[in-house]
Amino acid sequence: MSTPRSRLVLAPMAGGPTTVPLVAEVARAGGFGFLAAGYLGVEDLAGRIDALRAVSAEPFGVNVFVPSPDSPAILQAARDYAVRLAPMAELAGVELGQPRWDDDAYAAKVDLLVQARPSVVSFTFGWPSLDDVGRLHAAGVEVWVTLNDPGEVAWATELGVDGIVAQGWQAGGHRGGPVDNRHGLPTRDLVNAVKVLRATGTHLVATGGAMTATDVEALLGAGADAVACGTAFLRAEEAGTADVHRHALTHRADTVVTRTFTGRSARALRTSWTDLHSDRAPSAYPHVHHVTAPLRAFGRASGQPELVPLWAGTGHARVPSGPAYDIARGLLADLV
Ligand SMILES: Cc1cc2nc3c(=O)[nH]c(=O)nc-3n(C[C@H](O)[C@H](O)[C@H](O)COP(=O)(O)O)c2cc1C
Repeated sequence: MSTPRSRLVLAPMAGGPTTVPLVAEVARAGGFGFLAAGYLGVEDLAGRIDALRAVSAEPFGVNVFVPSPDSPAILQAARDYAVRLAPMAELAGVELGQPRWDDDAYAAKVDLLVQARPSVVSFTFGWPSLDDVGRLHAAGVEVWVTLNDPGEVAWATELGVDGIVAQGWQAGGHRGGPVDNRHGLPTRDLVNAVKVLRATGTHLVATGGAMTATDVEALLGAGADAVACGTAFLRAEEAGTADVHRHALTHRADTVVTRTFTGRSARALRTSWTDLHSDRAPSAYPHVHHVTAPLRAFGRASGQPELVPLWAGTGHARVPSGPAYDIARGLLADLV
C-alpha cells in the first residue's frame, strides 16, 4: 500500500519523464508517486489525474511550479543571452523563441487541485501563498514545499506546511528552492540541518543522489522520513524519457549545475552547450526556457544530445533500467 508516508517517493519529473503508468507502477510497488504539473496545461493535468485514478486506487501527489519573478531587467538579460545563443540556433537551422514570462497557469492549477484533492500537492521554484495553503488544507490535501537551504526552513514553518522536500546538491533537474543562488549542500548534510530546524511533525523528504537501496537507507538513517528518487527512474520502461536522454545517462561522465537551458539552475549531463554557455546564462526563468524551447525540441526530435537538456543527478551512471515496479522494489529493498 502506498501512502504519503511511504519511505520511497517517486520524485516529480516534468517535461516528459513522469507518466501516469510510471506513477501507478511505483505506487503498486509501495512507493508514493507524484504527477508533474509543470509545463502542462490545466486540462492536460486534469486528464492525467483522471487517467491515474482510472488505473490506480493508490494515493498520489501532484507537483506544481510556483511563478518566478519578472522585471524589465530580467527580460533584457534573457534577450542578451538569446543573442549569444543565436549562432548555435542558426547552425541547427532553428529559430529561437521569444523571451517571455508566464505563470505556468499556477492559479488555475491550484483551483483544479483544490477540487481534485490528491493526497499531497508539492510546490517547487517558490512558495505557495498562505491562502493557497489554507485552501488545500481545507480540501484535505497535504502541502509540501521544496528547499535547498536550511535557512529556508523557517519560511516553510511560517506557511504551516506538512512536508519539506530537502533537495540536495546531487539532485538532477532544477533546484527547487525559492532562491536560485546556485549554492547547495550535499543531501545528507541538508537532511541533518533541516531535521533539527523543522517544526515538530513536519514530514522530511530527502532528495538528491539516491540510486540504490543503500543510498535510500543512508538518508533515512540520517533522519529523513522518506527519500525521493528521480534519476533512478529515468530509464524505467514506463518513463517518458526521450531516447537520446536515456542513452546519454550511461554514456556521459559529468554533470553540471547550469542555467543555460531555462534560466534556472539545474543539474544536467555536461555537453558542448553547457560548456559554451553556462558561464553567461542569466537567472531569468521562464524567459530563457521560452528562448531555448524550439532548439531543445529540435534536439530531441533529431536525436542530438548536444541540443538537449540531459537532466541527471550525480548518480546517473548507476541508473537501473527495467519495469518501474522492479526499480521501486529494489530501492525499497527490505523497507516494505
Ligand atoms: C528529468 C527531471 C525532471 C525534474 N522535474 C521536476 C519537477 O517537475 N518538479 C520538481 O519539483 N522537481 C523536479 N526534478 C527534481 C526531482 O524532483 C528530484 O529533486 C531529483 O530528481 C532528485 O535527485 P536525483 O535525480 O539524484 O534522484 C526533476 C528531476 C529530473 C531528473
